[in-house]
Amino acid sequence: MPDTESLLPDMPGLERAAGILRAGGLVAFPTETVYGLGGDARNSLAVAGIYEAKGRPRFNPLIVHCADIAMAETFGQFDDRARALAAAFWPGPLTLVVPIRMATGLSPLVTAELDTVALRIPAHPVAQTLIQSFGGPLAAPSANPSGKVSPTRAAHVAQGLSGRIAAIVDGGPCAVGVESTILGLDGPATLLRPGGIALEDIAALIGPVALYQKGEKLTAPGQLASHYAPAAPLRLNAQPEPGEIHIGFGPGPATLNLSPTGNLTEAAANLFHMLREADQLAGPKGRISAAPIPDTGLGRAINDRLARAAAPRP
Ligand code: TXA
Ligand code: MG
Repeated sequence: MPDTESLLPDMPGLERAAGILRAGGLVAFPTETVYGLGGDARNSLAVAGIYEAKGRPRFNPLIVHCADIAMAETFGQFDDRARALAAAFWPGPLTLVVPIRMATGLSPLVTAELDTVALRIPAHPVAQTLIQSFGGPLAAPSANPSGKVSPTRAAHVAQGLSGRIAAIVDGGPCAVGVESTILGLDGPATLLRPGGIALEDIAALIGPVALYQKGEKLTAPGQLASHYAPAAPLRLNAQPEPGEIHIGFGPGPATLNLSPTGNLTEAAANLFHMLREADQLAGPKGRISAAPIPDTGLGRAINDRLARAAAPRP
């Protein structure tokens, strides 16, 4: 990756940023909460690049940033509570986790195969103009390396991600400075992460909100259990055996190949749909094997996902 461009938050800068995003590149941009690391939420290679740049060891689901409520409603199903909250707090530091619609076109890496999607409309004018010029949904986690604190200034982003992303739009310091409040609405309203909108203000509008309890059987940050696992048994770090559906990596015989050239970003982009395809090809009595994946960079997230897919079923 060449040097990371520093872009001004004016029209030429944002047009340039939108062009990079359309080409599948990654752009850090200011929101009212923290800087986000944006990529096209419909492009699996771009989304894999986000995980790669952050050095995330796992495929956690990402928030889909939208231009307006109409765009958000093309991805998620809004009930009365969601509509009321969106009307009151969007644009703003509130993320709603709602049931996902069929055939959204979002990359499976964005939702990590949950049946919900996290949606937010940021209030920062630079974020809004950028999403509008780009014209589609932006997947955007906080623009920091995994495990580091979230950035509230362009310089923080540069410290952590310079040389790993295409560009940073410098929009000055973020006003809110903490991440968005995340509210689960795929059942009783549940606070999944406290943040920029107060719980009391949410409760005033939709009534009592449950607090997420660690260990509860719920899909919450860091607690994501319900990932799709293939029905067929899966062997890891394997050479192909006759009769098996083999998921390859790098050169060599394979039924499906995550990346014939051994590129981890391409492999991550292909992982979720190839696991499903392998399961379909294997059928009810079949078996699947997967080639060894180097445990570096994105390979760690791929291996984490493969290990879950191979684990004994509950
Ligand atoms: O303020 C923010 O929300 C910032 C700015 C950039 O918008 N973004 C942010 O993203 O904090 P990130 O990836 O650092 O945190 C998103 C959280 C993760 O903990 C993730 O697990 C959770 O949202 N999340 C995303 N989709 C989810 C889902 N379907 N169900 C439950 N949690 C979800
Ligand atoms: Mg974060």
